[in-house]
Amino acid sequence: MIKKCLFPAAGYGTRFLPATKATPKEMLPVLTKPLIQYGVEEAIEAGCNTMAIVTGRGKRAIEDHFDISYELEHQIKGTSKEHYLTEIRDVIEKCTFSYTRQTEMKGLGHAILTGETLIGNEPFAVILADDLCDNTSSGVLSQMVKLYEKYQCCIVAIEEVPKEETNKYGVISGREIEDGIFMIDNMVEKPEPQDAPSNLAIIGRYILTPDIFEIIKETKPGKGGEIQITDALLTQAKKGMVLGFKFKGIRFDCGSIDGFVKATNYFYEKSK
Ligand code: G1P
Repeated sequence: MIKKCLFPAAGYGTRFLPATKATPKEMLPVLTKPLIQYGVEEAIEAGCNTMAIVTGRGKRAIEDHFDISYELEHQIKGTSKEHYLTEIRDVIEKCTFSYTRQTEMKGLGHAILTGETLIGNEPFAVILADDLCDNTSSGVLSQMVKLYEKYQCCIVAIEEVPKEETNKYGVISGREIEDGIFMIDNMVEKPEPQDAPSNLAIIGRYILTPDIFEIIKETKPGKGGEIQITDALLTQAKKGMVLGFKFKGIRFDCGSIDGFVKATNYFYEKSK
């Protein structure tokens, strides 16, 4: 069973400056809910009860968000405004949060390795809160957990993207072994369209087995001089098996202004 979910949340969010100068980008709200809370709710829905968050300097608002604010509770208890806290109270009750800091930004692979101390020796999920997902039936992570129960190996969520956008993503290729499930034979981090092995892009949902930590330790810096989880997973794919999973649902790239605005409009329409 997958009980722990890792959230790499140490990045600077430079594309959202100045909003992210003193506010973690994971705390930017889509409607009234911070991005990371959508991710945590998705993890809870998938059966996780332990959230492992890799933070950095200037990210304390995340810890405060997933904690009781006694002053606020006291102020609004018994008033008509109390219902505003229902959702976040529910989240806090259902799971525990632990934190560790990444002191240097050395890539997503390095961020995940930093979380080893919180994960230990068990399979775990990873959610990049920037990729905000929604669906009509079960959440993306929930779909992946079901697949993990069958295959017991690393899984990455994938989506078809326009060929000219491959340089924004990790891109995979592989053999389709079931409808929408690929046994990965190649993965490249942010390839230019002419070098991309396909147009199947990795989006920010992973299920990883704990042997990935040792592989990351052996992984040399790749694209951008950073330690890439994509490179570590390629090693894993060559040794054993890594699956790419075309999830059911919709994804917004909330790391970009365009995606953030689209997500806001989508959730606003949905809330009416
Ligand atoms: C990271 C990964 C990339 C993946 C993407 C999904 O990139 O390195 O392989 O496709 O997340 O959002 P980032 O967006 O952090 O640059």
